[in-house]
Amino acid sequence: MKIAIGCDHGGIVLKPAIVECLEKRGIEYVDYGTFSEESVDYPDYALKVAEAVADGEVDSGVLLCGTGIGIGIAANKVPGIRCALVSDLFSANACKEHNNANIISMGGRVTDSEKAVAMLEAWLDAEYQGGRHQKRLDKITAIEQKYSK
Ligand code: RB5
Repeated sequence: MKIAIGCDHGGIVLKPAIVECLEKRGIEYVDYGTFSEESVDYPDYALKVAEAVADGEVDSGVLLCGTGIGIGIAANKVPGIRCALVSDLFSANACKEHNNANIISMGGRVTDSEKAVAMLEAWLDAEYQGGRHQKRLDKITAIEQKYSK
């Protein structure tokens, strides 16, 4: 498994814990930046990670900004991306089991490193359940296709 990581200056505080968790689990990752606390624009990093996931260069992604909101909104503009903003363990699990989220986003200004790692692990350990959920994901794809030019 290979995971892409992307963040802005508001989310970079969580990156060391995310990286440490992936390394401990022996999961390969690609860090698309940012690499300092200098102010940057989160859509730039959302795009890099979302395209890597959509193109199949990596299996999934983790995005970090101040709240996890902006970077997730941007990622979800890329066809095929199902980015879930997570702020609790139940959702971190359910977004894989029900929504087959291929990216999770989290906020460095609202979530501490310990919780971020717990949510990352809940998402990594969960399995997509398919079944009744697939019909709903197909409907999401149909919406995406309706508005794709
Ligand atoms: C940057 O100041 C901040 O707006 C960004 O990190 C994020 O919280 C946006 O959703």
